[in-house]
Amino acid sequence: MARPFGPIRRVPRLGWVASEPTLIRAVLNDHEHFTLLGEGGVGHLWEQILGPYVTRLFDGAGHADLRRRARDLFTEQNSAALVERAAGPVYADVTARLAAGDQVDVAAAARLVVGRLMADLLGLRLPPDSPDSAYLETFAAGERLAALALDTTASTELPPERIEAAKDIVRSLTSGVPAAYADAAPDTLLGRCREAGITLEEASGLASLLLVAGTETAASAMARTVALIHDTEQQEPLRADPGLIPDAVREGLRVTTPAPVIGRHVSADVTLAGRRLRKDERILLVTYAADNLAGAFDLARPYDPRSRQLWFGAGRHLCLGAPVARAEIARMVEAVCTAGRPYRIVSRGYARKVMIPSYASLVVELR
Ligand code: HEM
Repeated sequence: MARPFGPIRRVPRLGWVASEPTLIRAVLNDHEHFTLLGEGGVGHLWEQILGPYVTRLFDGAGHADLRRRARDLFTEQNSAALVERAAGPVYADVTARLAAGDQVDVAAAARLVVGRLMADLLGLRLPPDSPDSAYLETFAAGERLAALALDTTASTELPPERIEAAKDIVRSLTSGVPAAYADAAPDTLLGRCREAGITLEEASGLASLLLVAGTETAASAMARTVALIHDTEQQEPLRADPGLIPDAVREGLRVTTPAPVIGRHVSADVTLAGRRLRKDERILLVTYAADNLAGAFDLARPYDPRSRQLWFGAGRHLCLGAPVARAEIARMVEAVCTAGRPYRIVSRGYARKVMIPSYASLVVELR
């Protein structure tokens, strides 16, 4: 699907497939003809797992209102602080171990970062001396939940046993939400939700959603960006000028596009790039292909107005956690690039049966 094939085509079993950036953006901004509720959209999946209230929250006026109240949940500033509070020690440990001459598995460190962050966001309140395994279990649960969507490229209708399995995971991971919502400090996600007038039901839905949206995606992007910087031999400029880290993050996200396909349901007949799409058909937007049109990972590449930041979607559903993801990746790039000398990759293993192409392991050491 990632191969260029013209702006739009129809694929048996899948429906419409589009890969051209302007067209993808047009679909994501056209809320009169496309929705993520209904077969083909991620809202359809969530409605089956979380319940019918998702319909109200995921599109239309209810969604617009929730996004308005959620506007300041994740800003650049509070996201950097959140990542530091939840996972600062993991990053510091990566730098210290590399500097001491140890080998470090960046993919494992990335999973730990995300597990710690999710535990913080979900108000899990694990004891301060909890072992890494407790946080890695949070990551693994998020990964299992995302995997339930693995086979949904052809249909977002889930079989009953998958719905039950997903509900179990959601129940256990969001069990701490009501208590944390009641008394969490305003610098936590659930505390901020409460103060922003987001109801407990909405906050619980949001918590499940960000677990799925922000688990594998962020971990994959962290390790793959570290590998890309190494493989394209662009460590030196970064080490000389840490001001280039945001460029490395943007290029890492563009080239890896951790959410490589976005689905939408066609809610009304519409003509797109000369083709007639009918109500109740579905369309897959291959953002991976659109983002990679510009070429290989290059720190010197300026912002591309065609793709802008399609890796985070566009329009009303633009990723709510984008500042968090950027902060997580930036801190990992900083952790490996400030350890004293350039790093080299000792070994890499590829994750299997995962939703998003990821490293199972990425072992690095200083040269
Ligand atoms: C590299 C990491 C990430 C990538 C590539 C990514 C990508 C995306 C994309 C493409 C969408 C739009 C989906 C659609 O239109 O159907 C989205 C939505 C969303 N993302 Fe992210 N995401 C990432 C990390 C995160 C993180 C860390 C969080 C939370 C802490 C998060 C929370 C959300 C939420 C809540 C939505 C739904 C927004 C809505 O429907 O209004 N994401 N993400």
